[in-house]
Amino acid sequence: MPATPSRPFSLALLGATGALGRAVLEVLEDLDVPATEVRLLATDRSAGQEIDLRGEPHRVAAVDAAGFAGADVAILAAGEAASLRWAPIARAAGCLVVDGSAAFRGDPAVPLVVPQVNPAALDAAGEGMVASPGALAVALALVLGPLDRAAGIASASVVALEAVSGAGRSGVEQLERELADLMNGREPPEPTGIPHRIAFNLVPQIGPVDADGAAEGEVRLAAELRRLLGRPGLPLAVTALRAPVFHGHAAAVHLALARPLEPEAARALLRSAPAVKVIDRPAERIYPMPMLAVNDDAVLVGRIRAVGEAPGGLALFLAIDDLRKGGAGNLVELALALLARRSAH
Ligand SMILES: NC(=O)c1ccc[n+]([C@@H]2O[C@H](COP(=O)([O-])OP(=O)(O)OC[C@H]3O[C@@H](n4cnc5c(N)ncnc54)[C@H](OP(=O)(O)O)[C@@H]3O)[C@@H](O)[C@H]2O)c1
Repeated sequence: MPATPSRPFSLALLGATGALGRAVLEVLEDLDVPATEVRLLATDRSAGQEIDLRGEPHRVAAVDAAGFAGADVAILAAGEAASLRWAPIARAAGCLVVDGSAAFRGDPAVPLVVPQVNPAALDAAGEGMVASPGALAVALALVLGPLDRAAGIASASVVALEAVSGAGRSGVEQLERELADLMNGREPPEPTGIPHRIAFNLVPQIGPVDADGAAEGEVRLAAELRRLLGRPGLPLAVTALRAPVFHGHAAAVHLALARPLEPEAARALLRSAPAVKVIDRPAERIYPMPMLAVNDDAVLVGRIRAVGEAPGGLALFLAIDDLRKGGAGNLVELALALLARRSAH
């Protein structure tokens, strides 16, 4: 259950017309949060549009400093460039800021938090700002945190399969267009966002590749997960692929545990972990899939089994709704937690 602020508050949402912003609005409605005002902000391209919230039309405004003035909290869901520009302005206007982009996730002055994993890190939000991790880092931290505490993760290998929604509107539009063209015997246009055709394909590159051959998405996922688990030196090998799936990220994980843990003990541990659902009856074809994770407020985990010759080898597969749980759910929970802490002080 998310933290509850003791008094009603006003909220500014930057990126309200985007996929993540709309998912934030859905979560706000579903949790019935006590917001007296929700300001919908985007670029001037979408200023004047109306979006329904609790059955009432709300008008989208072009973002400017006045959009944040007097708001208690700002949720930034418009991407890195917009966050770099507007986070300092929102702070200067007196808002608590929750950032959904990658802009501040590596900044030691800004805590990176999943409330069910490292809530104490919110104590460092002295500047009134917190960053929300990428969706797969949220999923992995929720699942690996309890296993690490119980058995100590010596090392982990992750193969991440990321939906096109993680690439924003342009990723979703690219897959839609390519599917329509290929099914109608037309050659799709040159890809614009994802570097190759994604329909009926897998692309082993998320973001630019560095001098060591690692893609930005892989480096970021490893860094965010280490930060969330409080394990700065954790040996972690990540390969991230873009998958031809609209919504729902997934990951295949192999762990080497310092103290062996039987699969059934791992299942029992994860059954009592917050925001985690164990679905693991492979003989009946029941296991996590992106299709099942969509619209779920938990990470789904299954295919838990012993692997490798040495004791302590454990494999699992997980899936998360990247927009609803990995993105919007964590943003709203962080906003509520910051507001609750402020009213407690
Ligand atoms: N934390 C997570 O797990 C998570 C999950 C999903 C996405 N994300 C990140 O969230 C960001 C948005 O993703 P999305 O899928 O919602 O993208 P999207 O569908 O393309 O929407 C982008 C939104 O941001 C607005 N925007 C873009 N540039 C802006 C600017 N310079 N100033 C003000 N508003 C601006 C757009 O407004 P207009 O409609 O006016 O263009 C739109 O509302 C991306 O960086 C994405 O990587 C994070």
